[in-house]
Amino acid sequence: MRPGRSREAIQQVAMALWPLNRLTCDLPAGVAQRHVLIFFQKSLSFYLYSTTISSFLLLSSSITLPPSDLRSQTTMAETTPTSRKPTLFSPYKMSRFNLSHRVVLAPMTRCRALNSVPNQALVEYYRQRATDGGFLITEGTMISPTSAGFPHVPGIFNNEQIEAWKKVVDAVHKQGAIIFCQLWHVGRASHQVYQPGGAAPISSTSKPISKKWRILMPDATYSRYPEPRPLATHEIAEVVEDYRRAAINALEAGFDGIEIHGAHGYLLDQFMKDGINDRTDEYGGSLANRTKFLLQVVQSVAAAIGADRVGIRISPAIDHLDAMDSDPRSLGLAVIERLNKLQFEMGSKLSYLHVTQPRYTAYGQTEAGNHGNEEEVAELMKIWRNSYVGTFICSGGYTRELGLEAVAKEDADLVAYGRLFISNPDLVLRLKLNAPLNRYVRASFYTHDPVVGYTDYPSLEKGSRL
Ligand SMILES: Cc1cc2nc3c(=O)[nH]c(=O)nc-3n(C[C@H](O)[C@H](O)[C@H](O)COP(=O)(O)O)c2cc1C
Repeated sequence: MRPGRSREAIQQVAMALWPLNRLTCDLPAGVAQRHVLIFFQKSLSFYLYSTTISSFLLLSSSITLPPSDLRSQTTMAETTPTSRKPTLFSPYKMSRFNLSHRVVLAPMTRCRALNSVPNQALVEYYRQRATDGGFLITEGTMISPTSAGFPHVPGIFNNEQIEAWKKVVDAVHKQGAIIFCQLWHVGRASHQVYQPGGAAPISSTSKPISKKWRILMPDATYSRYPEPRPLATHEIAEVVEDYRRAAINALEAGFDGIEIHGAHGYLLDQFMKDGINDRTDEYGGSLANRTKFLLQVVQSVAAAIGADRVGIRISPAIDHLDAMDSDPRSLGLAVIERLNKLQFEMGSKLSYLHVTQPRYTAYGQTEAGNHGNEEEVAELMKIWRNSYVGTFICSGGYTRELGLEAVAKEDADLVAYGRLFISNPDLVLRLKLNAPLNRYVRASFYTHDPVVGYTDYPSLEKGSRL
């Protein structure tokens, strides 16, 4: 049996045996739950991989499958219809969207939306990176006035912003691409200068981000992160409502869906990681409590715009902005179990799960942070990929070769590219042709010039900057 087929089979059977899995989810969070679940998953995987095709057929004919609409989305619909072995360039069906290839534009803050309103520069930037049947995720976009921690990031919480985004979305749609808006609240990764009334930024905690990290200020200098204000328990529902409203606004702007930014040490991650969250209320302590905020956001947004228009980004193994967890593996699995459960309860799958792995060393460029052991991280990514029922996007340090390998080995369905997409507007074509790539200029990542370092990277026909 092909690995892809067997993974789908495992996912199908896992969904069919959901009530058993559910028993483990309802146990008190912690070691016992994890061990029961892992034992269950390992036994199931071992059993399925080691049986013959005929015994599998016998098994599949005797089990009760989940509701038909969910089942049909879980099976062949998400594989390549035309080719037996998927490649980075083969089509893929992601929830309701037919993609023509698997190279995704990763969300990237570029600080060009002056005064938080998308402008013509953004229209051109996203248009350049759109391909027929391609999938783009926007830069982190503010869900409310308290959610910014960089200068000139766009918002999606007022009418002016919604109207402005329409031009970006239209330009992308004209190229035939799909575009999701990444919904972002930075939490404590902010500063009074970015907060209404100069208030302290909000978080799960009152602990500031350590001095190892610096915040980019509006005048292009760097400063220390200030002490945040921990959200009161009753305030969390208000932030959930901000996400819901922002998702509705995104659909009004014409976006095909949204990605919830639950990664990289920002607000939702500040609740999930035990190295930050020191709360004693129902949002602190156990894994169930720490993942509750994210799950409430997912549930509320999915109910508002449809689960199949919602993607979620997490980074359990990344310590960006001090977002450390003592057990990233269990944290990732805890989120995944709950997303699987939610999908089952909603009778509809989410669009995707997007996981960043901390391999930020491609092209010899290193970022601050603990990258972990390569093999350990790869193993974690596999565990999470195999546990999640649905489309899995990976990102973080993927080169052409690594992307091809990830899809060929079915370690991911789609691969998101960040920095290489900054400097190569026609990255998809270049990867396809194995053409040389322009180098990115780090110094212009977060500057505000509408052209330089933003839309002036040449495409192939204009000659490469090597
Ligand atoms: C300039 C820049 C801005 C970024 N902004 C965001 C962001 O707004 N949201 C997000 O989830 N990740 C953001 N990231 C992380 C990227 O999505 C991606 O995970 C990272 O660059 C690693 O992928 P790469 O090795 O292909 O560049 C950013 C990365 C860069 C380089």
